[in-house]
Parts: sequence; structure tokens; C-alpha cells
Amino acid sequence: MKKTIAMLPGDGIGKEVMQGAQEVLTVIAEQFGHEFIFTSGLIGGSAIDQRGIPLPPETLELCRNADALMLGAVGGPKWDGEPPENRPERGLLALRKELGLYANIRPVKAYECLTDHSPFKKSVLDGVDFVIVRELTGGLYFGKPSERSGKGGAESAVDTLFYTKEEVRRILTAAFEMAASRRNKVTSVDKANVLESSRMWRETAEEVKAGYPDVELEHMLVDNAAMQLIKNPAQFDVLVTENMFGDILSDEASVLTGSLGMLPSSSLSLNGLHLYEPVHGSAPDIAGENKANPLAMILSAAMMLRTSFGMEEEANAVERAVQLVLDAGKRTGDLAFENDHPLTTDEMIAEIKEGLADDN
Ligand code: NAI
Ligand code: MG
Repeated sequence: MKKTIAMLPGDGIGKEVMQGAQEVLTVIAEQFGHEFIFTSGLIGGSAIDQRGIPLPPETLELCRNADALMLGAVGGPKWDGEPPENRPERGLLALRKELGLYANIRPVKAYECLTDHSPFKKSVLDGVDFVIVRELTGGLYFGKPSERSGKGGAESAVDTLFYTKEEVRRILTAAFEMAASRRNKVTSVDKANVLESSRMWRETAEEVKAGYPDVELEHMLVDNAAMQLIKNPAQFDVLVTENMFGDILSDEASVLTGSLGMLPSSSLSLNGLHLYEPVHGSAPDIAGENKANPLAMILSAAMMLRTSFGMEEEANAVERAVQLVLDAGKRTGDLAFENDHPLTTDEMIAEIKEGLADDN
């Protein structure tokens, strides 16, 4: 198959880990007889530096002409002085809005070989394998009004949690579709005892469920979900929730996997042009030092192969190589434990490529 992939490395370690994804995809193309064409665009701080804005029109154009998109990470202290509407994060928010990337999918899997060093007991991590489906283009982060008024003692501020029924229906449908291809269970997380938007969410979940007789639907209040995620995470299969709840719960869930550097994600649109990115940010504290863990980015590439291109075997090969390398005790600094010699980013990338070759 011939596919065009738009690569948006962004800032900081985004560039370093993107290199890994491209090298791994190049090996996959050779092994399985595909042709991957990589195009590259500016976004975030690097775009501000070179073009004065965080999402230049040519980047958007490049994305629209691709079959799938990969993004590293954006942001860093260098651009803290930019006005709010011209910050690096704006580039990513605008990209999500422009391309209708409404569903953020974050698989959470506890790797057996990393559980010895987890803050969690092994018994808690046993069988942890679930997916968080987070709504990405609505809710509190986009609702209007969002503003301040008054001065001094009379000052006030407002943000708005707004959803249309249709936005809620499409994210819940994405969750049920996902559950139908997994263990047939959806946990819908809301705050229906307090919020009107959550009551509409809950009703909509029941309506969508009617179309999926084999999928079990469970409602859970978000405060309880925060507790259940660390008390009994193995109970979850697909957890679906609105934008801000999903933002918070997915960071909490990342601790289950051992490191932020291990978590991939996809952001899905209705028109089939999807984006793949690691959950972590640009890590300015280690940027440029060849220390970043490239696995979240490489696992995001595996998600792309499976979801966007239907290349199940190819995706499995990448995931197996990651497993193989971790099982052999190879670790980057974020996963290295006492007495270990951590691998550099480049060394980890080389290990994964070797793992792919050995597997064949
Ligand atoms: P961060 O995820 O960049 O880093 C948090 C901590 O985890 C740091 O100590 C970092 O060194 C470590 N870390 C993250 N990824 C790692 C990896 N692959 N390998 C090894 N260690 C890793 O989050 P932080 O520090 O809150 O944000 C830094 C910048 O990134 C900010 O400008 C923020 O706005 C931006 N950011 C961008 C995101 C995106 O582009 N999607 C997401 C989150 C943050
Ligand atoms: Mg977050």
C-alpha cells in the first residue's frame, strides 16, 4: 500500500521521538512491501519561530493532503511570553478544531515487565488493559462565555460546560464501537448528580446503547471513577467521558503504565483523517539531550498502522518489538531503575528496529 503520512514534530523532545517513529515505519514499509511518503510541517513553537504563528496555513494544507498525521509535542518555556492567542498550544487546539478531531483514544496497558517498579501492588495491575475515550472538541475548554468581568471585590470569572446532543452522541458511539471490538463493556463517566450536561450525557448513553445489545453499559460518577482507577483498574474496558474529566483521568491512569513516556494516543475524526501522538509533552527539562523515551511515539505509529491503514499485522509487529525490548530489560532513563544503564533515545530506537528484524 502507498500512504502519505504528515509528520509534525513540533518542539522539544517531539523532534527526537518523531525521528524514531519515522525510522520504525521505514523498516515496516520495507518488511511488508509498503510505500510510506513522509511529509513534514511546522506547528507550535517552531512554527512561531519560523513563521510567526503556531499553525501556518501550509501545515494545515499538508495535513489535509495526507492519509494520516503524526504529531510529536508542542510548547516550552521559550514561548511563555507569547500572547494567549499565539501560544504553541493554540496550534494544536486549532488543528483539532479544523480537522474535527473529536475523539481522543488513550490505551492504558500495564506492561508485566515494568510492574516490579510500579508504585502499585502487582495484584492491582494484573489484567489492566483498557482504553480511555475522551471528548476533545467541546465542554469546558471551548464553551462560551469564558471571560472575566468586574474589578476588585466585584471581580468574577466564568467558564461554560457546553455540549450539543450530537457531540455527545458521536463520542459515545465511538466508545461503543471500540467496546464491540474489545471486551464489550462501556463505563460512561459523568457527574449526573449535579450537572445538567451530565444528565443529557447519561440519557444519550442509554440511547446509543440500544444499538449495541451485546455491549454492557455502566454509569459512574467522576469522583468514584478517580478512586476506582487506582483501586481496581482491571474492571475497565472502555471508559468514555467529556473533555476535562478525560484530561484529568487520563493523566491519573498514565501512572498505571509506569511512565508518561509509554503512552500513545490517537485522535479520530469522522472523515477518516486521524492524528496520532504521544500523551506526553515536549519535556523541556530533557529536550536535546537524547534521553527521551521514544516508545509512546512508536506505539502511536502502531496505532496509526492499525486504525488508519488497517495494517493489523504490521501494528502487531511494532508492539511485539516494544514488548521484546522491554522484556530484555532495555530501558530509557524514565524507566531505568537503580544500577541500570539507561539507553539513549537513539539506542532505544535502534533496539526496536533490531527487534523488528529479529522477529521476522
Ligand atoms: P511533559 O509531558 O512534557 O513532561 C513531564 C515530565 O515527564 C518531565 O519531567 C519530562 O521529562 C517527563 N517526560 C515526558 N515525556 C517523556 C519521555 N518521552 N521520555 C522521558 N521522560 C519524559 O509535561 P510538562 O512538563 O507539563 O510540559 C512541558 C511542555 O509540554 C509545556 O509547554 C506543555 O504545555 C507542553 N505539553 C504539550 C503537550 C502536547 O503537545 N500534546 C501535552 C502536554 C504538555
Ligand atoms: Mg493533560
